[in-house]
Amino acid sequence: MSRYRVAVIVGSLRKESFNRKMAKALTALAPESLKLEIIEIAGLPLYDQDLDENPPAAWAEFRAHLVKFDSVLFVTPEYNRSVPGVLKNAIDVGSRPYGKSVWDGKPGAVMSLSPGAIGAFGANHHLRQTLVFLNVPTMPQPEAYIGNAASLFDESGNLANDSIRGFAAKYMQAFAAWVEANTHSKKQ
Ligand SMILES: Cc1cc2nc3c(=O)[nH]c(=O)nc-3n(C[C@H](O)[C@H](O)[C@H](O)COP(=O)(O)O)c2cc1C
Repeated sequence: MSRYRVAVIVGSLRKESFNRKMAKALTALAPESLKLEIIEIAGLPLYDQDLDENPPAAWAEFRAHLVKFDSVLFVTPEYNRSVPGVLKNAIDVGSRPYGKSVWDGKPGAVMSLSPGAIGAFGANHHLRQTLVFLNVPTMPQPEAYIGNAASLFDESGNLANDSIRGFAAKYMQAFAAWVEANTHSKKQ
């Protein structure tokens, strides 16, 4: 069976982040055909085009690591109705130098979580706009704007009820099919 490596990018640096907890839950629930790995973005210096000729080591490592992945899954909160700056920075770092974007052609998906009621819809769709430009074919359905995030996890950080567990499992099954359908050079 083909196995696809999925880079999971979490848009929050907070230790008790609901989005990070969800990313871990998705990793455990993913079907066999996907291998998820959370890629840390906290240590990436702010993108500065002047540094393209001689990039910081952390940028070079991030880019070299990302190219090994087949697909990308974003799990993000919303800051001021958009994506957190730390996530946009990671996306910008990965998109350069021009013509060498690590995102290009990788099938992707966006899940957003917020303690608020509208599930970080604004961040989710701002991110989708960026992914159109970066040529990341992004799974349209199921959409995942997950509100009331504080109620979804138990004290150990695991998903607390069957309803959210079932949704998360179905989401990952759909993503597995999306990755398979949108990967151009089929894997062995
Ligand atoms: C700077 C800032 C801006 C925020 N703006 C929004 C917002 O626009 N919409 C929203 O639903 N929550 C907003 N929040 C609340 C976050 O959704 C909340 O802190 C959430 O727990 C962050 O995700 P995490 O748990 O994964 O860290 C904001 C929080 C911060 C710190």
